[in-house]
Amino acid sequence: MKTISKLFFLLFFTLWLHKILAAHGEIPDLIPIACDRTLHKDLCRNNLESDPESIEAVDVHGLTVVAIKQAATNATNIRDYITKLDEGTSDEVVHQCLSDCFQNYEDAIDQLDDSLNALESKRYDDVVTWVTAAMNDALTCDEGFKDQGRQSPLANLRNLFDPLCSIVLSLTNQLKQ
Ligand SMILES: *[C@@H]1O[C@H](CO)[C@@H](O)[C@H](O)[C@H]1NC(C)=O
Repeated sequence: MKTISKLFFLLFFTLWLHKILAAHGEIPDLIPIACDRTLHKDLCRNNLESDPESIEAVDVHGLTVVAIKQAATNATNIRDYITKLDEGTSDEVVHQCLSDCFQNYEDAIDQLDDSLNALESKRYDDVVTWVTAAMNDALTCDEGFKDQGRQSPLANLRNLFDPLCSIVLSLTNQLKQ
């Protein structure tokens, strides 16, 4: 082979190899590097590495998609749990708080869906706005109980939901740079 052909062969081979590795999520440092720049490094790594959808992610944008979906799933589970709690109470005050919470988490799910759309069109400021709104919705739920002098039965779940949103915000900020 002439030198020029060898060079072309090498170039295409390298590109091909990169594509294969990327398609299998084997660009080894993507998740650790992105997660190291969040406030919840271990949670971020565990959640992204254990999600089969991360395999498709070849960059931080792809990881952010996965992180938003995880937060939305979390909010959906919490909303369903609220329905169960509500079925188990005859306390009118708790019932009122829980139906407000149901609406809060419903809104949070919508906002996370909106943030996914914003991400797809690279409107990163909108992603930050919607995800922050989702966190505030969850907070509003707990405050509803507090205002009635009650302890929120959702507080522990919010303490797990909040970091998921925080991870999305950190990843989004990396995209903005
Ligand atoms: C929400 O996500 C956290 C962190 O991954 C997890 O520990 C928790 O079980 C999830 N909660 C629900 C209700 O899915």
